[in-house]
Amino acid sequence: MLEKLDSLRAEFGLALGEVKTSAEVLNLKAHFIGKKGEISQILKGMRDASNEDRKVIGAKANSLKLDIEKALADKLQEIEMEAINAKLASQRVDLSLRDSVMDRGLDASGLHPVTLIQREIEDIFTSMGFAILDGPHIEDDYHNFEALNIPGDHPARDMQDTFWFEDMEHLLRTHTSSIQVRGMEVNEAPFKFVGPGKVFRNEAVDASHEMVFHQLEGMMVGEDISVANLIYFMKTLLSEVFKQDVEVRLRPGFFPFVEPGFELDINCLICGGKGCSVCKNSGWVELLPCGMVHPNVLKAGGVDTEKYNGFAFGLGLDRLVMMRYGIDDIRHIHSGDLRFVKQFKAF
Ligand code: DAH
Repeated sequence: MLEKLDSLRAEFGLALGEVKTSAEVLNLKAHFIGKKGEISQILKGMRDASNEDRKVIGAKANSLKLDIEKALADKLQEIEMEAINAKLASQRVDLSLRDSVMDRGLDASGLHPVTLIQREIEDIFTSMGFAILDGPHIEDDYHNFEALNIPGDHPARDMQDTFWFEDMEHLLRTHTSSIQVRGMEVNEAPFKFVGPGKVFRNEAVDASHEMVFHQLEGMMVGEDISVANLIYFMKTLLSEVFKQDVEVRLRPGFFPFVEPGFELDINCLICGGKGCSVCKNSGWVELLPCGMVHPNVLKAGGVDTEKYNGFAFGLGLDRLVMMRYGIDDIRHIHSGDLRFVKQFKAF
């Protein structure tokens, strides 16, 4: 019987090497250590053996049983792990795109031109001491309109028709000016920050209008801030972006959250001011609405208007991208057309 146990151990070792599925593991278990399995048969056959023999055979049979149990449990776990790994491998999603960059070289990838310009402008402003703030795309009436001096019945709301939620209290923000309100909530004057991001309007889409576009808001609040400060920062910004000195002019413009409000134009960089289709022969391109922050806006933001004042601006990033790269249709920007985006490299 002792020899029989030895040969069972060897037999089991061979059989285990062949096993591929969990069903086969269970069969093996039944065959060797099940109620009617090989080891049980041996133990039954011990009835006629002497006490001495029984002890030795019993101990050996038990240790074989334990070894088999352990080996089968390990095997089962190994098979399950293999199955999980195979599933993970077949359903793998590479979010990093690392492999495609490795395979095709750095030229295969790039950043979207709006992201490029946004990052560049963020760098320019951080170098001048501005913080960068973010705000939610889903805004409430208060942050998008009310606190910006645009009450419920104000006609300026018609210029910014957007997508409202059913509660008629939340909306997709129409401009990044809502970041001004959020910025004042978390900052004590004096402060200066910019806030870039997507904005939404219920627009009829054409070559120069999109329902989703990008702005970069800016706000500077301190003591004795003047229009001269505003012009200085805007000129610095635009000269850095266009890598040349730009001339600017201010025209009056109406926005409820600034007083006075301006439209800032730059001399047309396409024709040098001589007149072309981009500047509609005027020599000037409208680029940047801005102004001195309205005291009502500062008060709503908890700023002491006896002591502080400031300027704000809202830069349209898509327009800037179009000017810089000579893009004639805003719809390219969100087209997702690879032929368009692949032209911009950014590593
Ligand atoms: N929020 C305005 C718009 O989207 C743009 C704007 C105008 C922003 C004047 C400003 C500003 O900060 O001072 O039409």
